[in-house]
Parts: sequence; C-alpha cells; structure tokens
Amino acid sequence: MSAQSSLRAFGVKAALANHSADAEGLKRALRALGGGVSLITAGEGETRTGATVTSATALSIEPPRMIISLKPFLLDMACRRGARSAAGLRSTTSRWNACDPMSELRHSVRHATRARRDSHDKSALGVWHASCMVQISTYRESTMALKSSYNMLSPDMLRKTTWKGSKTPPFENIENTTSGKMWSSIPGGHKWLGYFPVYDREFSRFRGKRPRVLEIGVYRGASLRLWSRFFGVGARIVGVDVNPQCSKSDNPGSNIHVEIGDQRDAAFLQSIVEKYGPFDLIIDDGSHVASHQIASFNALFMTGLKNNGIYFVEDFECMYWSNTDDYRDAPVTSTDFFKMLIDVQNSVFEDYTYQDFQVHRPTGLTEYSVFDIAKSLSNIKFARGVVVIEKMEQEPPRVLHL
Ligand SMILES: C[S@@+](CC[C@H](N)C(=O)[O-])C[C@H]1O[C@@H](n2cnc3c(N)ncnc32)[C@H](O)[C@@H]1O
Repeated sequence: MSAQSSLRAFGVKAALANHSADAEGLKRALRALGGGVSLITAGEGETRTGATVTSATALSIEPPRMIISLKPFLLDMACRRGARSAAGLRSTTSRWNACDPMSELRHSVRHATRARRDSHDKSALGVWHASCMVQISTYRESTMALKSSYNMLSPDMLRKTTWKGSKTPPFENIENTTSGKMWSSIPGGHKWLGYFPVYDREFSRFRGKRPRVLEIGVYRGASLRLWSRFFGVGARIVGVDVNPQCSKSDNPGSNIHVEIGDQRDAAFLQSIVEKYGPFDLIIDDGSHVASHQIASFNALFMTGLKNNGIYFVEDFECMYWSNTDDYRDAPVTSTDFFKMLIDVQNSVFEDYTYQDFQVHRPTGLTEYSVFDIAKSLSNIKFARGVVVIEKMEQEPPRVLHL
C-alpha cells in the first residue's frame, strides 16, 4: 500500500502533497516519540486529522519516512460503536466533557478510525511520508505501562476466568446499604452498584454531623438529593457544574446549592470555598477527564478541605476504556496521579536515614523537611473506580525502641 493511499484509507484528508519535510525535522519529531501509544496528527493550520497508533518509528531518514501501525482493537471498537451511530458518540462526549480543548483532535481520531472501518481493509499497517507530518504528539498511556507489570503476578492470578453477574433485582449493594436504598428512590441518576458499600463505609461518620459537602458534577441533581438525605438535617450540599441547565437543581430551601463553573478553574473553585466551605467532603463526579480531576484536586485539597475531611474521586474506569482516549488527556492518568500521593506520603524517607527518626537516640532529629501536603495525607484508599483521600494532620514518622 502506498503511503498516501494508506493514509487515505485511514480517512486522513489533510494536505498530503506539496510539502517536503527535511531529515532534521523527522529526527526532532522522532525524539519526541515515547513508548506505548502515540497519537499522530496530520494536516495544516486548522485542518488536521489523526489516529492513535500502537507503534511509530523511523523507516528511513533519506527520504524522511515513518512506519506506523494502527491499533486493531481501537478500530474494532470504533466499528461496533459506529454501528450505534457516530452522532451518539459525539453527543456522549459533549454532554460530559463540555469545553474540552482536545475535542477537535478526538473528532479527527474518530473520523480516521471510522473511515478506516468503511474501507474494510483490516491490515493495520501504513507507511507514512514524513512530508505530510505537521505535528506528532505523544503521551504516556500509563495503563499500557501498567499492563506490562501485570506479568509480575503469578500465572494463577492472571488466569482468565468467568465472572458472573445478575441483571435482575434484588441487587445486594442496593438492598444492604443505606446509601443504596436511598438512591433507589431518587430518579435521574446512574451509579455503579459497587459504590454504595464504599459510600456507607467512608461517609457514615459525617451523618447527622451537619457536614459541608461539595460535589463536582450535578447532572440532574440526583446525587445532591442523595447526599442531602444521607447526611441529614443541617447538611450543606453544594454542587458545581459547567452546564448552566444544572442550576435547576439549586434548592437553597433544602440547603442544596448549585453554582455554575468549570472544575478546571481554580479561581472559581476558590470562590466556592469562600462562599460555602471549607468542606468536610469533596466528591469529584464531574467530567472524569484526567487533567480536570488533577486540576480540581490541586485547587481544593489544601484550602478547600477541612482537617479530618475526605476527598473522593469517582469513575476511574474512564482511565481504562481502550475504545477511547477522551479521558486520558494528561501526561499521566488520574489513577496514576492519585497513586503518586502514596509516594509523596512516604517521600520524607528519601532525605533521611532510619537513625534520624529514632527518638531514643541523640542523633535522632526533631525537625524534617517535607512536602507540605505530606503533613496532612492520612489514608489513601482505592476501591474499584474510586479513590478516598483522607486529610488529617500527621505527626512526623518517629521510631521508639524499648
Ligand atoms: C456524571 S455527571 C454527574 C452526575 C451526578 N453527580 C449524579 O450522580 O447524579 C457529570 C457532570 O459533570 C459535568 N461536567 C463536565 N465537565 C465539567 C467541567 N469541566 N466542570 C464542571 N462540571 C463538568 C457535566 O455537565 C455533568 O453534569
């Protein structure tokens, strides 16, 4: 298959001809390529399109050429979802990820994969003249990196097995939990059933204590009503959402407040903290886009959350869907970001020795240099799809030998 015809088979309609790239340009671009999955875009100015590729490497420097390989699974998924109409795909994205700067690129990727499906050409290999390459961007797909470390588990653990689930009630997680029972009588929402035992276990200590709760992501207000009922009289429930329609759920008479703004906007979030906070509980059920979740955590954890409070992030499944890159828009996934807090929590050990922490030794220290956030990271707990980060002022690590 020629370079240009193979690109056309992928639906790449950007200007392919009349542009020559030099060998230096190709070398520079190749240096930017990391391992894992690369995202290759082609085009000029505003007209660009592209696709994720499972490998991208140099074929020749003179003439400058690359060889790329498309990810068959992505193509298959695009086919299956495409059968449910491409418009459906788009509306899902715009509903959850309003104002996303990557949306143009995502559209291009879908366009390329759809066109590839239509071509009925299953060979997922193409040779690409670097002359049509305007931009190559790569980012680490940490789920891919993680997958290579799966092999450290024993073969028994990795044996593929069947997991049966019933589609008919009763659903244990609804019947046997306080939050689940309440949720089942509130219309207008959808939640993973596994969350209810986690809600009960992690949030019950705030029940009846008039907590201040901030939730990012209102949608139709179902979870705001759940929190109001779950935490009881005196609880102040604040929802923020980028969609102005969500202000319909504003109900100050019931101490449910809705404010419109973007979860990426630190100044907006700070204004919410000043008006209603600081909070006992912050729940991020917003866009589920990695960079958004990271931005909100950075804006809220230190100043927006009380000591003894909980920061809770939902729907990490979005970091793992292999049929879409929509949510993995940051250098790391948000699961990796929150896992990193475990390293920060333990980072104080990097700069000292065991003896420095011994209280019964004259050489033991009484002062340590540490990242500010490490002083208040108490517990970091992951359950499937969620992370619970407990904030509580910590003592420095100290050892006592008796
Ligand atoms: C999963 S829904 C929230 C569901 C709600 N918590 C519930 O359980 O009933 C996600 C919401 O996040 C909102 N959203 C998307 N991007 C956002 C952003 N950048 N900032 C704030 N909200 C955003 C969407 O408008 C949508 O209403």
